[in-house]
Amino acid sequence: MEKLTGLKKLKTAVFISGTGSNFKNLIKFSKIKKTPISINLVISSFNKAKGLKYADQFNIKKRIFNFQNTKNDEKKILILLKKEKIYLICLAGFMKILSKDFIKKFNGKIINIHPSLLPKYKGLNTHHKTITNKDKFTGCSVHYVTEKLDSGKIIMQKKIKVAAKDNPESLAKKVLKHEHKLYPAAIMKIFS
Ligand code: GRF
Repeated sequence: MEKLTGLKKLKTAVFISGTGSNFKNLIKFSKIKKTPISINLVISSFNKAKGLKYADQFNIKKRIFNFQNTKNDEKKILILLKKEKIYLICLAGFMKILSKDFIKKFNGKIINIHPSLLPKYKGLNTHHKTITNKDKFTGCSVHYVTEKLDSGKIIMQKKIKVAAKDNPESLAKKVLKHEHKLYPAAIMKIFS
């Protein structure tokens, strides 16, 4: 556990690629009294990511990097993170894989939310896999990001029951609701 001293909030960047519901939710979390974070930057790998609208809405600095040249983009991102004094990166539906070099060079922490009970179902299509395999339970996990995909130390997990009538879409919706509780809870667990 890392106790926060003083009233300073940890400057945080959220990395997104799509809808950004977790991004929106983290913004909300960053505005409550007991929060340990402030959100100072959003990075999107896709210029039309829906979630970018929350950056406009809440006046958060946004930058787009399409990762066509990963090395170049990561270099620019590292400079930006340093300039903005970012300490925490929250990946939230970010569809690019950060290089080992980037993870090593970033002078802070990187965490991610994943819609499964890791170590089960790393990577994509977790809800589809859950339904196909007729699993009784699914869930979501917040974990540290390491060079191995979805394999870093787990900070918190939530187990969720799969209903007989669930399909990948209904499950995605259900799990997302829990993600919105779990991500802030995991941040609180680390920093407060
Ligand atoms: C979430 O299910 C997250 O766990 C996964 O991608 C989805 C992103 O949703 N990595 P959103 O963009 O935050 O709405």
